[in-house]
Amino acid sequence: MVTYKKNSKRISLTPTEDIVTFAKRKGFVYPSSEIYGGFAGVYDYGPVGMLLLNNIKKEWLQSMVQDRTDIYGLDSGIVTHPRVWEASGHTKGFTDPLVINNKTHERYRADHLLEEIGVACENVSFEEFVSLWNTHKHTVRFPQGVSVQDVGDPTYFNLLAKTNLGSVTYDTQKEEIAYLRGETCQGIYLNYKNVYDTMHPKLPFGIAQIGKAFRNEISPRQFLFRCREFEQMEMQYFIYPGQSKKYFGYFKKLRMKWLISLGLSKKKLRFLPHSKLVFYAQAAEDIQFQYSFGWKELEGVHDRGNYDLTQHAAFSKQKLAYFDEKSNTHLIPHIIETSIGAGRLFYALLEQNYTVQKVSKEETRIVLTLAYHMAPYQMAVFPLFKKTKFQKYAKKIFTSQSNKYSIVYDDTGSIGKRYRRQDEIGTPYCITVDEITLKKNTVTVRNRDTMKQKRIPVSKISTYIEKELIAARKKLS
Ligand code: GAP
Repeated sequence: MVTYKKNSKRISLTPTEDIVTFAKRKGFVYPSSEIYGGFAGVYDYGPVGMLLLNNIKKEWLQSMVQDRTDIYGLDSGIVTHPRVWEASGHTKGFTDPLVINNKTHERYRADHLLEEIGVACENVSFEEFVSLWNTHKHTVRFPQGVSVQDVGDPTYFNLLAKTNLGSVTYDTQKEEIAYLRGETCQGIYLNYKNVYDTMHPKLPFGIAQIGKAFRNEISPRQFLFRCREFEQMEMQYFIYPGQSKKYFGYFKKLRMKWLISLGLSKKKLRFLPHSKLVFYAQAAEDIQFQYSFGWKELEGVHDRGNYDLTQHAAFSKQKLAYFDEKSNTHLIPHIIETSIGAGRLFYALLEQNYTVQKVSKEETRIVLTLAYHMAPYQMAVFPLFKKTKFQKYAKKIFTSQSNKYSIVYDDTGSIGKRYRRQDEIGTPYCITVDEITLKKNTVTVRNRDTMKQKRIPVSKISTYIEKELIAARKKLS
């Protein structure tokens, strides 16, 4: 619990509630459709948040596509033909256990209720789950006023979100339905043949994409951790059969290294192999992050075998085989997948870096200790006084840097308050235009972490910041 004093009242918040409040106050994340009372499981990224989110996606694309000769990018559609999800197995197997309140018809995630009382039930079969439920249901903590007698037996609930776009007529009831994709990787399998035919890659090669996915989560919770609409960053690596172990190990290491390069602490990351595998996987391991509510999956690395291409070939009746020139044979490649939610990573970065620091006996400050290259703004520029000549000079600096760095201009409130505002959103450098600037063309540069200031020539701002950013980034590699 985090306790605050507001208007002489004490307010207690869980760490998650504290982050939710902070994220809204600083323009990182807003609840969706808030003026209509909100919409569970959907969030909007604000002016500052969208910059951090974009940095996450930019870094992912750079490392997974742009820095590589063997992985291609893709941006496939969100609304998909219903047969896709039959072939993938999601219409049958993409389910979560729920129990229904017989009086109110409210639905609860039965596995979450068990986890809350310390019963591990991730990756167990349905039969094992029912047995665990029956053993522990009397000690489960239901919402206030609800008892075990009020709820029925666990059943499985499908997570795919349906829509109807009007262009697809399919299904035995002749109902027009389509699905919002439940995972972005299906778009990759659907385009595997197109990429293969147009780019002529040789095995092993990968296809990667970032995009929205939708899941009818029974109880979306823990802020950005479990949403109904979220963004995935997924890469599918197509390999020769028999190479799974090698590439599974390779991508595990690569992905862990990447997360550390964004500034996540090694101590807060660990691998967790799955003891029970989902329907499509031959092997699966989570990279978990230590959130305030425990160690939870941040990213998954999966050996999907040849399940997906085999299924889509059978259902579409198309040839999805790869022609191997070496052996003069056709084969179905196996797939290693890496999959991470951009929002889960965003949340991990906020939680780890949200820091309340004591500055003096009387004063504390909030500082978001993000890695400098991940910060929404790398620089802020202020005129010391709200007078035209200082403002004009500061805006000239803003314009000279904005094509190279993410920079923000601020002339509201005292200089101390402006520094604190930037500390809260993680801006590593604040540049101030003062009287000396007007005479000598020098500015002060103040560092977020040391709070120390240095005077440098205006002509050196760009090179100074660049050097500092490179040095900070090197420490993370
Ligand atoms: N294609 C494989 C796949 O989708 P997953 O474990 O269901 O596997 C992969 O999801 C990643 O997507 C997770 O590790 C997590 O980061 C993110 N994710 C999954 N469900 C999510 C949700 N409801 N809200 C936010 N992120 C989610």
